[in-house]
Amino acid sequence: MSWYLPLKYLHIALALLSLSSFMLRWFWMARGSAWFNHALTRRLPHMIDTAFLLSGIILAVAISQYPFVHDWLTAKVLGLVLYILFGTLALKRAPNLIWKTFFFVLALATFAYIVGVARSWNPQSWLIYLAGD
Ligand code: HEM
Repeated sequence: MSWYLPLKYLHIALALLSLSSFMLRWFWMARGSAWFNHALTRRLPHMIDTAFLLSGIILAVAISQYPFVHDWLTAKVLGLVLYILFGTLALKRAPNLIWKTFFFVLALATFAYIVGVARSWNPQSWLIYLAGD
């Protein structure tokens, strides 16, 4: 599987693009910038996120690890659902900027949790590194 490692790097790059486009949109929203409603700002993140999810699914199939069979991938998929939910609340659905900031922080924390799960293959995420041996 000579393509596995390049695809994994693509997955990581898309994860960073997804996160940075979310943060940029949030700052534009908070500042009331016209960029927030620009057609590109609304479409590009969906294209990035679709490619991102697809890369994760192909990687998972390649190593025969599946959500709802293997705990770490279950945690990643549930984490992704939460990241999307908090992200939507942070950008649009929350009633005011205080709540939007609250959900923005939750979305970032969820993202950090998922990266910890990806690195450790464990739903306990970064906590396993704290526990020591
Ligand atoms: C916000 C969501 C996600 C983030 C932040 C994320 C992040 C990452 C990162 C950083 C890695 C590299 C870990 C390492 O080797 O050090 C990785 C690997 C991987 N991810 Fe994701 N990912 C996400 C969603 C998903 C989803 C939804 C799936 C599958 C359904 C998935 C499947 C995989 C697989 C199979 C690997 C390769 C693991 C390995 O070879 O060790 N990811 N992910």
